[in-house]
Amino acid sequence: MPSAELAGQQTPSVTHAFACKDLIGIEPLSVADITAILDTAVSFRRVSERPIKKVPALRGKTVVCLFFEPSTRTRTSFEIAGKRLSADVQSISAATSSVVKGETLFDTARNIEAMHPDLLVLRHSSAGAAKLLAKHCSAAVINAGDGAHEHPTQALLDALTIRDHKQTFEGLRVAIVGDIAHSRVARSNILCLSKLGVQVVLGAPPTLLPAGIEDLQDGLEVHHRLEPAIEGADVVMMLRIQVERGGSMNIPSRAEYARLYGLNATRLALAKPDAIVMHPGPMNRGVEITSEIADGPRSVILEQVANGLAVRMAALYLLCGGNPAHVDTAA
Ligand code: NCD
Repeated sequence: MPSAELAGQQTPSVTHAFACKDLIGIEPLSVADITAILDTAVSFRRVSERPIKKVPALRGKTVVCLFFEPSTRTRTSFEIAGKRLSADVQSISAATSSVVKGETLFDTARNIEAMHPDLLVLRHSSAGAAKLLAKHCSAAVINAGDGAHEHPTQALLDALTIRDHKQTFEGLRVAIVGDIAHSRVARSNILCLSKLGVQVVLGAPPTLLPAGIEDLQDGLEVHHRLEPAIEGADVVMMLRIQVERGGSMNIPSRAEYARLYGLNATRLALAKPDAIVMHPGPMNRGVEITSEIADGPRSVILEQVANGLAVRMAALYLLCGGNPAHVDTAA
């Protein structure tokens, strides 16, 4: 795994002060903010490699994870991230909360706030839910995915994975292929990678591209077929059709979609010979990606998951007031 550390690079030292109260989206972040989170994550990666995977950085802090939509990777990694930093972590899911009794997000938040948490992590099906929570809560808020809007920690972990393999962002071509219309991962990645100097190329059938997508970001390249999108790409990022947001109504059938937009070995040969393959998970094997590619040597999908933990440790640490300049001591 050609990670920065394994490539013999020093752990970057973080000097930029991180001044945001919340992490709602990539949009308000500067390149210095993004770099500070990635560098902090690199420092925290070593905690997970030790026999005793715990540091006292967030001792006495309380993190509440509110997951109102299903999640495997994001929720588990936020919980483990908080625990490895010694925070007290409490998770609530919609199915086991008073949401099923009709309580609004606003009332749930006010009640949680009365218990004085330091940080709230929210996943919700409505775009804007995390922003609403942040407006009404004094605790820091991290958006763990709000509808089809943003998923900032996913874009940050993707950026870290790309940096591990390519060392730089400037001049890279990153193809994002699939259900762009309903994907918060796509939106956060377009914003994040473009800020970092990447040429982002989108590939999707017209029915899975939101109208006016070109206006989201200057210089965005958009293709209606997979082949021209991945040609010459340094990174190929595949997305799942967001069935829960109506994505499957925009394609004739999964089989037809797989035939035209699924990533297989023949198609991957169009990308650069050293191109890496990414997927945020959960994958629909045989639809947007074949198992041969998902489990093959170019796939960095499980490295994304490992980096997700480190990036979430960094986000929790910085938003709980951790000083980026002291991260080496904290880790
Ligand atoms: C993504 C999400 O929830 O937006 N998954 C994730 O967080 N790893 C992508 C998806 O569900 O397809």
